[in-house]
Amino acid sequence: MAGPIPAEATGVLPAEALAQAVAPPCLLVLFGASGDLTRRKLVPALYRLFREKLLPAEFSLLGVSRTSFSDEAFRGRLGEELREHAPSGFDPGLWGEFSGRLFYHPADVDDPGSMQALAKRIHDLCRERAIPGNLLFYAAVAPRFYSTVVRRIGEAAEALLGQAIHMVTG
Ligand SMILES: NC(=O)c1ccc[n+]([C@@H]2O[C@H](COP(=O)([O-])OP(=O)(O)OC[C@H]3O[C@@H](n4cnc5c(N)ncnc54)[C@H](OP(=O)(O)O)[C@@H]3O)[C@@H](O)[C@H]2O)c1
Repeated sequence: MAGPIPAEATGVLPAEALAQAVAPPCLLVLFGASGDLTRRKLVPALYRLFREKLLPAEFSLLGVSRTSFSDEAFRGRLGEELREHAPSGFDPGLWGEFSGRLFYHPADVDDPGSMQALAKRIHDLCRERAIPGNLLFYAAVAPRFYSTVVRRIGEAAEALLGQAIHMVTG
């Protein structure tokens, strides 16, 4: 007589493993926020993680690029993309909940002065959203910008002091 089917065999992780899979609270600072990778892949992937309850409650994303968007316009643009290209997975209520965690800050990484305002926005968001000093910078920009992005983060190091900083490219 066969016993119960192990959870792994059903493709569903056991509850303890799922709990461990949830990342610690963080602010994802996403350079290249107006770009194709963000719109078509990164944000839809994060939305799916949110739907599966695999994002921490305090997770927030701050998009950065030169194009001028309000937070609302940024959210609207990303929501349209999801609604059009993944209509079966799009739940307006869930999207509303998720998109409330998305923020936008216009900045040009070629501008050496750009990080002061960005560092302040990061600081304010971490405080408002109760994110305990854990920053993930994602450079979704052309590879020629990677070193500039790293330099800009370095320039803001003093303002970001006390925060754990992680970096992802492309
Ligand atoms: N698209 C994909 O499916 C895909 C897949 C795998 C890997 N990648 C890699 O991901 C990276 C981004 O690709 P992508 O297709 O998303 O390119 P993209 O659509 O051209 O987006 C580039 C982004 O960089 C921003 N940007 C350009 N100059 C900037 C500046 N001076 N300051 C601040 N932001 C600036 C642009 O925003 P503004 O013009 O608003 O400033 C835009 O948000 C590339 O390295 C690519 O190889 C892409």
